[in-house]
Amino acid sequence: SDEYLREPWRPRVHFTPERNWMNDPNGLVFYRGEYHLFYQHNPLGIDWGHMSWGHAVSRDLMHWEPLPIALWEEGDEMIFSGSCVVDHRNTSGFGTAENPPLVAVYTSHRPGNQSQSLAYSTDAGRTWTKHAGNPVIDLDIAEFRDPKVFWHAPTEKWVMVVALSAAKRVQLYGSPDLNEWRLLSEFGPAGVEGKSNWECPDLFELPIVDSRGEATDETRWVLEADFGGGGVGGGSGNEYFVGRFDGNQFTCDDPQRRSQQVDYGRDFYAPVTWSDLPAEDGRRVWIGWMTNLQTNGTPTSPWRSAMTIPRSLTLRETGSGLRLAQAPVRELESLREDAVDGTNAAVRGKQLDIVLEVTPDAGRPLVLHVLEGPDETTRLVYDPVDETLSVDRRDAGFDEFHDAFAGVYPAPIALDEGRLRLRVVVDRSSVEVFAQDGVAVLTTLVFPGPESDGVRLDAPGAEVHRFTAWPLRSALTER
Ligand code: FRU
Repeated sequence: SDEYLREPWRPRVHFTPERNWMNDPNGLVFYRGEYHLFYQHNPLGIDWGHMSWGHAVSRDLMHWEPLPIALWEEGDEMIFSGSCVVDHRNTSGFGTAENPPLVAVYTSHRPGNQSQSLAYSTDAGRTWTKHAGNPVIDLDIAEFRDPKVFWHAPTEKWVMVVALSAAKRVQLYGSPDLNEWRLLSEFGPAGVEGKSNWECPDLFELPIVDSRGEATDETRWVLEADFGGGGVGGGSGNEYFVGRFDGNQFTCDDPQRRSQQVDYGRDFYAPVTWSDLPAEDGRRVWIGWMTNLQTNGTPTSPWRSAMTIPRSLTLRETGSGLRLAQAPVRELESLREDAVDGTNAAVRGKQLDIVLEVTPDAGRPLVLHVLEGPDETTRLVYDPVDETLSVDRRDAGFDEFHDAFAGVYPAPIALDEGRLRLRVVVDRSSVEVFAQDGVAVLTTLVFPGPESDGVRLDAPGAEVHRFTAWPLRSALTER
């Protein structure tokens, strides 16, 4: 309906369900020209509950076509997070070699028990059948969830990474056919200490680019996991380890197994990567749930929560080692309208894609005001003395729905030959900042008033090399 297209806080270029609650992205897979996005969903309400898999497909990662619920809760079983693979060789026997099945691997959640189950589709994801032999892994424990499965070609088997959540450990399993699983190894506890668990793990190989962004012929593996409490900005967070994977075991490059932070903003959770992206494309893309577990009762209606912009990943060499680098997928550029030069004026728009390259004044902070209104502004502040880039949402708009929502979230950022490079994606109720070619990212929700709009640079003494903003066309379509 029209209403849906006009809701003030509804993102125009980020995925949202039309109605009701959404959390983690699930089952990301590319199949016959379509990117599938499943998601944790309450089909019956705007709060968490009745967990089922919602479903949408896209041909360009920007325009999403909603599809019926793929997997419904049933009896005392809720369908928790998991992944999908294309079973090209029909190892599972759920399809045929000519028509390879899509297989979903998800957590069956019951009171006191979490176990891993399968469902399959032989009609491009339109209808799904739960496997009669479920569950396929049951350890008889309560905190065991979020299987991410991939095909490991060198050892010719399926590999699953799955969390023993309360223990902050992941287990790796191997299988010839997605049915029979054998424990290969474990990793953890490691990384952030204190009040912290692990959920929604992912394990994937990435190409290494050098410090100038040029390709090398080296790769490493990244193990990523999310935790419900103990994040640097308060609330939930995520961490990653860089290392090697031999088909059985993940070995962290750092013998002390220190982790790196995935995102310095408040609102990034449970990212997972797409399976089966076309090899000739050669990219690795993920998407996350744009929220913090602590403050996820956000004030939108009749839906709750958005996904991030899909992001391409690489590992980049930096002075302090290899770092995950994230960038909005190139498809975002297809939504750009005419470029506006923001150097001497404010740029209007509630959906903007911004590129800023600046040499900050050595002694004074620079501020990029985002979605500024008569009574509010979100400040992106670079402080050259502390060498931090912060998102300050203390005056960003409506924040009364949770005590912990207003705040300032800093990321340590060194200048590169004196320069700060930012890519900023603004979309009604979110600000995603990719700094220094994406090695530091800040993802933050804001709920500004109706007159808030645009971006404006306040940077006395700074030298602006480039400040270009593109208003973005809405990717929402009439329903
Ligand atoms: C993370 C999470 C997952 C679980 C799902 C349930 O947000 O708790 O660990 O599978 O959400 O909705």
